[in-house]
Amino acid sequence: MSASKASQPTESTQPSSAASNETQAAAAQPDAPVEASSAPTAAEEAPIEAQGSSDEVSSETDSALGSEYDESTYTASLSSSITAYQYEHGRRYHANHAVNYDLPNDENEQERMDLQYHALRLAFGDKLFFAPIDDSPATILDIGTGTGIWVIDIAEALPDTQIIGTDLSPIQPGWVPPNAKFEVDNAELPWTFPADHFDLVHTRIMNAFVQDWNRLMEQSYRHLKPGGWVECHELSVDVRSDDGTLPEDSHIHQWCLNEGEAWRKIGLSVTLSGEEVADWMEKAGFVNVTIKRFKLPIGTWPKDKQLRETGAFQLVAMLEGIQGLTIAPWVRHLGWNEQEVEVFVAKVRNEWKSGKFHTYFPLYAVYGQKPRA
Ligand SMILES: C[S@@+](CC[C@H](N)C(=O)[O-])C[C@H]1O[C@@H](n2cnc3c(N)ncnc32)[C@H](O)[C@@H]1O
Repeated sequence: MSASKASQPTESTQPSSAASNETQAAAAQPDAPVEASSAPTAAEEAPIEAQGSSDEVSSETDSALGSEYDESTYTASLSSSITAYQYEHGRRYHANHAVNYDLPNDENEQERMDLQYHALRLAFGDKLFFAPIDDSPATILDIGTGTGIWVIDIAEALPDTQIIGTDLSPIQPGWVPPNAKFEVDNAELPWTFPADHFDLVHTRIMNAFVQDWNRLMEQSYRHLKPGGWVECHELSVDVRSDDGTLPEDSHIHQWCLNEGEAWRKIGLSVTLSGEEVADWMEKAGFVNVTIKRFKLPIGTWPKDKQLRETGAFQLVAMLEGIQGLTIAPWVRHLGWNEQEVEVFVAKVRNEWKSGKFHTYFPLYAVYGQKPRA
């Protein structure tokens, strides 16, 4: 299949009109955020200034417990079921057939996740979360933890806090801080944690992978302590440029449209907005819902040094990870074959490598509080 099979553009690549940097959806003002680091937060809605020209771009999831429970057999059985990975397109995928998660879980994908994590940390001015949670939170939950890197960073920053990361795949490291723990779990099923238990429930880059966000918010609400916070760090796969350097016929733009179409075929959206996440929080009963907006540059085109470094990490994440982000969704849901996908993503990589496309992902952090009474 050629690039011409790509879906026709249905969305503008133009940026939406700039809104205020921070949207306070409720009347009450939250307390000052607890910072994991004192580094400044990156600018949010303002256009990112590019370097003078492209030439100047810098170089970067019991049945049979039965009456006689044999722990070792049961553990071995569970363990083999969660690691019964599927292999397709030369990539390794998770073992839970009940979940429509079309991204790989192999080393290459783990690398992409960690690169992107560093990009987000830079974009967030090194803050691990923005919600004004109490100084000594007892317990924190990270849903869809991936490689567990956020959990490990939080565990090191808050050594008296117990952090649990859950994921479909057991791809987290074995050696972790003593206050960090990982569990294999499908977050879409009823949570087995106690009610009124966590101080913070966090998600990061889960926008396209949650079938029922209302249910996720309801479960977060039930399992948070009164006064606890839910916080979502999400980006929209709606690559934009503020200076007209992303034409609609570019492969980057077409990649976005097709990626959106592929995930829409299985009822998922890769282009969620902060407002949608805020609405789900409010519908579940959260108050003091706040949206903080950022731009996640892709490439070393920004003039600002921190944004340039952010963009360098995100560029490498995209160059290394785009095949994994694309191959299964497009082959499974859009009918492309592997070779067609490989050719197309090579063109997207070339555009990003050229430095001519001053692109970024809209990025946002949304947090809301369970009422204290
Ligand atoms: C794009 S990755 C993001 C990982 C991590 N939060 C980060 O920012 O690096 C999405 C993760 O969500 C996990 N995931 C997807 N669906 C899930 C579900 N229903 N329950 C638990 N984890 C899920 C995937 O296995 C994957 O590790």
